[in-house]
Amino acid sequence: MDKLLIRGGRPLQGEVLISGAKNAALPEMCAALLTNEPVTLLNVPRLQDVRTMRKLLDNMGCVTETHGDRGGMSFRAPDSINPEAPYELVKTMRASVLALGPLLARFGRAKVSLPGGCAIGSRPVDQHIKGLQAMGAEIDVEHGYMLARLPPGRTRLKGARIATDMITVTGTENFLMAAALAEGETILENAAQEPEISDLAEMLIKMGARIEGHGSSRIRIEGVERLHGCTHEVVADRIEAGTFLCAVAATGGDVMLRHACAHHLDAVIEKLREAGAEVEALGGPDCEGGPKAHAIHVRSLGARAMQAQSFRTSEYPAFPTDMQAQFMALNCVAKGSSMVTETIFENRFMHVNELTRLGAAIHVDGRVAMIDGVQKLSGATVMATDLRASASLVIAGLVAEGETLIDRIYHLDRGYDQMEEKLRGIGADIERIKS
Ligand code: EPU
Repeated sequence: MDKLLIRGGRPLQGEVLISGAKNAALPEMCAALLTNEPVTLLNVPRLQDVRTMRKLLDNMGCVTETHGDRGGMSFRAPDSINPEAPYELVKTMRASVLALGPLLARFGRAKVSLPGGCAIGSRPVDQHIKGLQAMGAEIDVEHGYMLARLPPGRTRLKGARIATDMITVTGTENFLMAAALAEGETILENAAQEPEISDLAEMLIKMGARIEGHGSSRIRIEGVERLHGCTHEVVADRIEAGTFLCAVAATGGDVMLRHACAHHLDAVIEKLREAGAEVEALGGPDCEGGPKAHAIHVRSLGARAMQAQSFRTSEYPAFPTDMQAQFMALNCVAKGSSMVTETIFENRFMHVNELTRLGAAIHVDGRVAMIDGVQKLSGATVMATDLRASASLVIAGLVAEGETLIDRIYHLDRGYDQMEEKLRGIGADIERIKS
């Protein structure tokens, strides 16, 4: 297992190119299952989850290709594919459940493994099942698999009003894709409003789908009989951008994040400004014109010039759970005390024990972490436990005195595109130790 060795204490200076969003690319790769025409995605990040999703599509019999080294990928799902997502792939990536909606909508049947356990919480998929059942699917769970099909005599899912018990991001994405090819109107109440949902909806509209209201909590889809191919550029990865913003705020420095849209990070940027970082949005107040039209400029005098900030994670547009660990790393060395409340996942404080090994003062009570900012962190060997926890350890390592060795960075590789190369490009002393 590869490790990362970081020698902390260097300010970050220069420019970073932010990649396309993992959490948009994954559903958009699955959207290619909705047509037998070629679909091309641009700005696809180079990371492990994308490789796993490609393997999943290849395994079904899709034809997938990469174009050049700038994130171009194309997909074609012939009529003859085997609509099955096996446990061996699903267990390594929960987002595989995103194949369920499109497979069912196009092929009338799907066999998708249940994802099983997850480091950050129990994460059931009951809402996905409930919503697709409302659209007329018959779904049995047998031998660890969801076996989904249309009732005899039906050739398409039917539109429905779906009101989920809680807001679910991949659930909303599954329903959007399924409803695009269903018969009649689907209304999604309590829909997720994340930018990745809007990006998927925009892609589906390019494919011929009829969707209104994406970006709000009520989405209306009028199903069509057939979708066609399209070319679509994946929206910028707001969580990657936010991770770099926290890293610069903590280490000090002056960095331009290119191809990043500030508006998608309003809640995080607001907190960083309150903490004392200078953050400037370039390219206009909204994110129109694609990722390349936008940038974020961040300047900071370092963590000890920052004031720790309390926050509570919640669904978009509030503070994202996917930025909780990284901002907590900043709070560990900022001035003052802070309280961080995690409301989305019940077990998303796995980074706390590792941050404590670096000298952080954190006390966890249930879903609340109390943090007292310390003068300094000191390098140690730590272990990554999940994707965003790994990113928080990288930020802590960049600030800590001496050497920090982060083990199990395969978690980081799942969701960040060349993180250590990008950090080295702005002056970090970080190297990968291959094993
Ligand atoms: N939930 C259920 N039943 C369901 C679906 C969700 O109980 O059927 C619960 C979950 O257990 C959780 C809450 O609802 O407590 C919200 O989960 P959601 O379904 O929104 O999460 P997700 O769709 O599985 C996506 C991202 C996550 C991100 C969350 C929340 C992708 C591929 N994954 O997961 O990203 O944390 O939304 O914003 O889009 C990451 O990138 O590190 C990551 C974990």
